Amino acid sequence: MPTTYTTTILITGGTSGLGWQTALSLARTLPPTTLLILASRSAPTGRLPSPHTKYLPLDLSSIATVRAFVATWSTSSYPPISTLILNAGLQFLGPPSFSPDGYESTFAINHLGNAHLYHRLLAGGHLAPTARIILVGSQTHSPAAKTGLPDAYYATAEQLAHPPPENKAVALTGNGRQRYGTSKLCNLLWAYALQRRMEKAPEGQRKSVLVFNPGLMPGTGLAREAPGWQVWVWKSVLPKLIPLFRLLVSKDVHTQEESGRNLAGLVGKVVEEGEGVYFQNAGEKLESSKESLVVAKQEDLWAWTVEAVAGDEGEKEVFGRGW
Ligand SMILES: NC(=O)c1ccc[n+]([C@@H]2O[C@H](COP(=O)([O-])OP(=O)(O)OC[C@H]3O[C@@H](n4cnc5c(N)ncnc54)[C@H](OP(=O)(O)O)[C@@H]3O)[C@@H](O)[C@H]2O)c1
Repeated sequence: MPTTYTTTILITGGTSGLGWQTALSLARTLPPTTLLILASRSAPTGRLPSPHTKYLPLDLSSIATVRAFVATWSTSSYPPISTLILNAGLQFLGPPSFSPDGYESTFAINHLGNAHLYHRLLAGGHLAPTARIILVGSQTHSPAAKTGLPDAYYATAEQLAHPPPENKAVALTGNGRQRYGTSKLCNLLWAYALQRRMEKAPEGQRKSVLVFNPGLMPGTGLAREAPGWQVWVWKSVLPKLIPLFRLLVSKDVHTQEESGRNLAGLVGKVVEEGEGVYFQNAGEKLESSKESLVVAKQEDLWAWTVEAVAGDEGEKEVFGRGW
């Protein structure tokens, strides 16, 4: 590894779908002094996008594996992370499955694993003081977007982590697509909570927090848990119908390449005061759902997350501060 790198960009789930396309796009434009790190459970099958790209194994599904990832990072000499792209995410269809820590899997990976990674990288001093944090969200979080998924349902973080069988919430959250939309709502709730903390951070330590809506991108690995024929339609048929979808159904349908380019563009986007956190396309501002703006839900999720991932009182304090 050359020692000439001055900065790092880390993408969770950078090895497939949107993350991979973002990496390809970034690799074309980044200076050779930027190290691009792609982290996920399985190594990419193709050649890495550039000599300045590295793959690291990361499993976001458990608290222990995220902690171990950052512990290993701390023994390496990677330069500070200027952009952290929290992109990894999955959909689990069917009845709820659970992470090694006993949390519902969609919530555990799409929200908790990514958020935990942020907290631990920050506490380890691995984020540049004014780093940019980009979460990958989705319009499936918003009932108003009418994406065809059941409405996201957030009562409390605890209910999402441990869906209680006797509760009405389960009738709702018992649906995998709904759990997915709700996990994307969590991405926004958490981002707003983080953004609020940044407003209190001292000058020079404020990270910028963005959430990117990539739109529907048929063909990625997102549908991998679906029945075989649905995976075939998603991977082989729908990508060919994107122009038709755009014309007849919604403009919010993109190829993976387009959304990858757009996400890569957010890395350097100048965000004006008042533009908020939520963006789509080539940096266009987007309104998030009313529910995502409910401060009590943002703070419930923030506090629950800190409690779940902090190992001791010292970590609770640092993680809770958020900067
Ligand atoms: N496709 C769409 O229509 C769409 C629409 C809106 C938003 N999104 C969002 O876009 C993001 C990327 O999804 P995609 O569509 O590109 O799907 P994808 O092709 O399946 O990519 C997901 C990435 O996340 C990684 N990942 C999954 N579980 C992980 C874990 N436990 N630990 C670490 N990495 C893990 C996967 O690698 P491994 O499995 O090897 O770990 C893969 O690299 C997700 O946040 C998704 O919610 C997608």
